[in-house]
Amino acid sequence: MKERKYLLAIACFTFLLFGCGVAPELKSAPASAEAIANGDTEHGRKLFMGYVHLEQEGPPCMGCHNVGENGILGGGALGPDLTNISSERNDIELASVLSNNRWLKSPVMEPIYTQHPLTEGEQADLIAFMKSSNGEPEPDKELLVLGVSILLTIGAAVVLGFVYRNRLRSVRRALVNKAEKELL
Ligand code: HEC
Repeated sequence: MKERKYLLAIACFTFLLFGCGVAPELKSAPASAEAIANGDTEHGRKLFMGYVHLEQEGPPCMGCHNVGENGILGGGALGPDLTNISSERNDIELASVLSNNRWLKSPVMEPIYTQHPLTEGEQADLIAFMKSSNGEPEPDKELLVLGVSILLTIGAAVVLGFVYRNRLRSVRRALVNKAEKELL
């Protein structure tokens, strides 16, 4: 009986220890107006594209978002195109999404960037970058996909035509030969 109590106590202790340790709620403050004003556009671009790793190892934004220049084959399509986001959202709203601390959150991004929060500096640089793309043309992906499909179809037709260039003729010759033999 005594042993069971001990075991129970150990189990509870382990649960508390690991249960609390597994998913620490990391938080970072939303970038201040001052930090955003000093945001480094070029560094923001590198963070967005994944050329420079995020400090807490969050995934690069372009995995889910397009922004102007990363364009055509670049960004992912899970999130909205962010080319002109700064004309729709102000700094406070953008910092809110990126820090998960305020009222404007993305249900898709929140769990990821709560585990891997963006530092204040990273938020500021990313916001500066998102502002810099304002007014750039948004790439038209549908047109691109259509164009690539048409090209691939034509390409496939040409290649198949070449590979099987003698096939029809030889099948026909065999048939003709056979018919001639049967007639004779
Ligand atoms: C796993 C995919 C994913 C990643 C990675 C991601 N986002 Fe998002 N983001 C989304 C989705 C999806 C939305 C739209 C809201 C929703 O459905 O959650 C969104 C919304 C946003 C919005 C708000 C858009 C609006 O219209 O209000 C901003 C700003 C934004 N993301 C910026 C970023 C930045 C900057 C990064 C990189 C640090 C990033 N996102 C990384 C998926 C992602």
